[in-house]
Amino acid sequence: MNLKQVFNEVFNSEVSNEYFSPGRINLIGEHIDYSGGVVLPCAISIGTTVLTSVRPDLKLKFYSHNMPDIGIIEIDLNDLEFKEVDNWTNYPKGIFKLLKDQGYNFDHGLNILFSGNIPYGSGLSSSASILMATAFLVNDIYNLNIELIDLVKLTRKVENEYIGVSTGIMDQFAIGFGKYAHAILLNTNSLDYTYLPLDLKDNDIVIMNTNKKRGLADSAYNERKASCDRALEILQEVYPVEYLCDLSLDQLMDQKDRLQEGDLYDRAYHAIDENERTKKAASALQNGDLELFGHYLNASHDSLRDKYEVTGFELDTLQDRAISIDGCLGARVTGAGFGGCAIAIVKRDQVEHFIEDVSQHYLEKVGYAADFYVAQTGNGTHRVN
Ligand code: GLA
Repeated sequence: MNLKQVFNEVFNSEVSNEYFSPGRINLIGEHIDYSGGVVLPCAISIGTTVLTSVRPDLKLKFYSHNMPDIGIIEIDLNDLEFKEVDNWTNYPKGIFKLLKDQGYNFDHGLNILFSGNIPYGSGLSSSASILMATAFLVNDIYNLNIELIDLVKLTRKVENEYIGVSTGIMDQFAIGFGKYAHAILLNTNSLDYTYLPLDLKDNDIVIMNTNKKRGLADSAYNERKASCDRALEILQEVYPVEYLCDLSLDQLMDQKDRLQEGDLYDRAYHAIDENERTKKAASALQNGDLELFGHYLNASHDSLRDKYEVTGFELDTLQDRAISIDGCLGARVTGAGFGGCAIAIVKRDQVEHFIEDVSQHYLEKVGYAADFYVAQTGNGTHRVN
């Protein structure tokens, strides 16, 4: 059965609209989008497909093709509060809730089917993909005329305030604004951005999935953000800056004594250093110097492992083995870390050998298998005709 047939069967209704929203990888600029840093993500070809039809009543009926056992989850447009029992539908529901809070009115309901091929919990942004898909389709179907950038900001707000994870704006932005064969150099402070052609010559990007369940990832994520906020607060006593990434490493080092609390110094060091590194890596990519680009990827991973402490045994095992192989220009964790995925830039004619080697090594050391995919870039959230 194809997806449209599933939709007909589940909802007893014909599909009227179809949408696609990608996932993303981040090439470099990690854990700095909530500290005003520069990041370099790109949208990928895997993502979330969404089919919809209009309902005459005020109900939202959600169905996930990935979780058929759960069946239809029904939501009343007059009751949009977050509820544990509503499971994954809290993500799309949050979009309706925040729009309603902003004064938008929904005079009819929808049937909505989601089908995703981003491995769940892999750090490739399945949640931001669902959020952007929902924001986009709601804007389209109810003719709300909201600009794309405001949809991106809305999805971040839902993640922060409704779901409760203090993420930055990188994922939502990359998914909303993604462009085939390009990475996005985004300043997360000003939201200025440039598309950089992602010309990797005779190399591919290999995504390596640890298959490690992320467990307490969200609370650890919020803790890292809290440390950066605290470090900034202390540094603002001496520097008139708005974000941590407005500072230079020299300015940080001059104030080391003030940051003796816990790991604040190391956390701030990573943020400021990674921001500088991302700018240099983007120039290397623009200049076609892929060796240098790979070198910055490795340095980013080292900093996330040693100073920011978000990698862990599984990601480190993948990265360490990856960079020992001829034909690998560089590798690093991508996304929040604590499990999830790493990426590697690998000579195309070495990819098969690379995957074989890393996969066997990982299985021996970790005790279960990693998954590997060759990444293709993709476009941002769009309607499919
Ligand atoms: C998650 C968040 C992003 C970003 C990355 C780390 O993907 O959603 O906002 O902070 O982690 O770079």
